[in-house]
Amino acid sequence: MGALIHVESVLELRRLALLGTPVRVALRVNRAGGGLPGTHQMAGVATPFGIDETELPAAVALAATLPTVRLVGFHLHAVSNNLDSAAHAAFVDGAVRWSVATAARLGVPLSYVNVGGGFGVDYVGNRVFELPLRARPAPAGVQLVFELGRYLAAGAGWYAAEVLDLKRVHGRWFAVLRGGTHHFRLPAAWGYSHPFTVLPVSSWAYPFPRPTVEGVEVDAAGELCTPRDVLTRGQRVDRLRVGDVLVFGAAGAYGWDISHHEFLRHPHPQTLVL
Ligand SMILES: Cc1ncc(COP(=O)(O)O)c(C=O)c1O
Repeated sequence: MGALIHVESVLELRRLALLGTPVRVALRVNRAGGGLPGTHQMAGVATPFGIDETELPAAVALAATLPTVRLVGFHLHAVSNNLDSAAHAAFVDGAVRWSVATAARLGVPLSYVNVGGGFGVDYVGNRVFELPLRARPAPAGVQLVFELGRYLAAGAGWYAAEVLDLKRVHGRWFAVLRGGTHHFRLPAAWGYSHPFTVLPVSSWAYPFPRPTVEGVEVDAAGELCTPRDVLTRGQRVDRLRVGDVLVFGAAGAYGWDISHHEFLRHPHPQTLVL
C-alpha cells in the first residue's frame, strides 16, 4: 500500500516527484468557502495552509504528469478547538460533497477525504463535543479520515506546579508558581483562564509562618519576567498555602509542546508517564 502523503503546494508536489518513489497523494486544499468559525481558522480564509482552490485545477493537472504520483483525494483540515459540533458535522458533510464534486470535475479517482481534526475541548466549562454525523457520511469506496489531536490527547495530561509565593498586589492575590507559560503556554496563547485544583501539601520546612489565603480569588502566575505569564485569573480557593501544588487538568495537548521552554532558562518540568 505504501505511504499516503498530504501535499500542501505545487512546489511540494514537484519535490515529492523528484524522490522517484511511487506514492499516493492527497492535496490539501484551502477552499473558498466551507471553513469553520473559530479563533484558529486554517481554511476558508487567507492562511499559509493548503493550495488555494483557484490553483487546484493546475495542481491536479501537474499531478497527472508525474509518473510516481497517484492522486487519491483531498485533505481539508480547517480549524482548531471547535466546540460547535453541529457546525462541524455540517463542515464534514460539505467537505465530502465538495470532494466528490471536485474530483468528478477534475478527473480525480477519489478514494480518500481527510477532514482533519479540530474537535474541541471545553477547558472552562462542561461542553462535550459529540459529532452528529449521518450514518454514511462518505460514498462507498471513499475513505473518510479524521486526524484528531487535542480531543484525544488533552485529557491524558496534567500540569502540576508548586506555589512559591502568595502576594497581594494592587488588591489582587497572586499565587506565584515554580513554573508557568514556559511549561504550559496554552491558556496564555489562547487567551483564557485555565482552571486548577489545589493539591494540599502538609510539610512546611521553614522557621516562620506559612503564608496562607482562605476564601479569596487568586491569579496563578508563573515565574517569568512578564505580566503575560499567567495561567489562571481570579479562581476562588477555599484555602491555599505556599508549598501547595496547583494541578491543571486537560493539559495533554498543546501544553508543553507549544511552550517557550528556554525563556529565562528555568528547569524543565519532570515528565511522569503513568
Ligand atoms: C493538518 C492538521 N491535522 C490535524 C491537526 C490536529 O488538530 P486538533 O488538535 O485541532 O484536532 C492539526 C493541528 O494543527 C493539523 O495541523
